[in-house]
Amino acid sequence: MTATDPPGRFAGRVFVLAGGSGGIGAVLARELHADGAALVIGYRANATRAEEVAATLRAHGGPPVELVGGDLARADVRDALVASAGALGVPYGLVVLAGNPARPAAGAATQDEMAQSLADNYLGPILLARSFAAAAGDGGAVVLVSTMQGVALFEGSLSYAAPKAALVHAARLLAKEWGGARDVRVNVVAPGVTAAGMAEASIRSGKYDRFIEGGAIRRFGRPEDVTRAIRFFLEPDGYVTGQVVTVDGGLTLRRDVLAR
Ligand SMILES: NC(=O)c1ccc[n+]([C@@H]2O[C@H](COP(=O)([O-])OP(=O)(O)OC[C@H]3O[C@@H](n4cnc5c(N)ncnc54)[C@H](OP(=O)(O)O)[C@@H]3O)[C@@H](O)[C@H]2O)c1
Repeated sequence: MTATDPPGRFAGRVFVLAGGSGGIGAVLARELHADGAALVIGYRANATRAEEVAATLRAHGGPPVELVGGDLARADVRDALVASAGALGVPYGLVVLAGNPARPAAGAATQDEMAQSLADNYLGPILLARSFAAAAGDGGAVVLVSTMQGVALFEGSLSYAAPKAALVHAARLLAKEWGGARDVRVNVVAPGVTAAGMAEASIRSGKYDRFIEGGAIRRFGRPEDVTRAIRFFLEPDGYVTGQVVTVDGGLTLRRDVLAR
């Protein structure tokens, strides 16, 4: 929550945060919960990390926090996420933070690696969005988390970036399909290099230092930079749908300065 947010703006609202135990997701979970939201947090396998996130939230009291583990590729897991939300009230918001950096073990990605990335970064998220929208109340909100690589061209990112780019197109199609009287809004946030979760080790290794040293960006992103954009799309009575916001500090605009 920022100083400008009224307190409890999500009071009484039920959210599913798929991948909500991750680096960015845990920050979003904390912010929404502080703002009165009841949460169903999804994770794939790291139950210890998910339990820690839930325990921290529950220690502050407030609305319920439920956990659902398992791969979004499985229909029973998607059903369990939506059913858990339904048990808490009428589902309002879905944020799909689940993702797989899909780094090939060697050279170009194999067929299996590409299929896995497609399942993790596109199929699971979109099938969950569909199940969620069917259960959500009128005026619900869905946010899919893509990546800057899904909106700009980064060499060597085919396996990760193409399924993430597909999220952007799918969001527009679904926003059109679910708009109108029901008005379940669907938007996308595309983070840049963010000091959290799956990028933390790469940032620590210095892999991205050249972006700052070369003058493309002033600093790496913080999870709060990303969650601010997500929360904008989640605002009750929002009037924006089918859009993508890139939260990268300008990196995709200014990468050319590195080549000068
Ligand atoms: N961090 C960045 O710099 C960055 C930049 C651009 C885009 N993004 C995107 O932002 C999102 C969140 O990233 P993050 O850094 O917070 O990642 P993270 O820390 O690795 O967290 C990923 C979360 O998604 C869950 N998950 C992964 N695959 C899943 C699957 N198939 N089914 C169900 N749950 C699954 C993980 O569960 P387990 O922990 O149990 O595996 C975890 O809760 C991702 O979609 C990522 O692509 C991140």
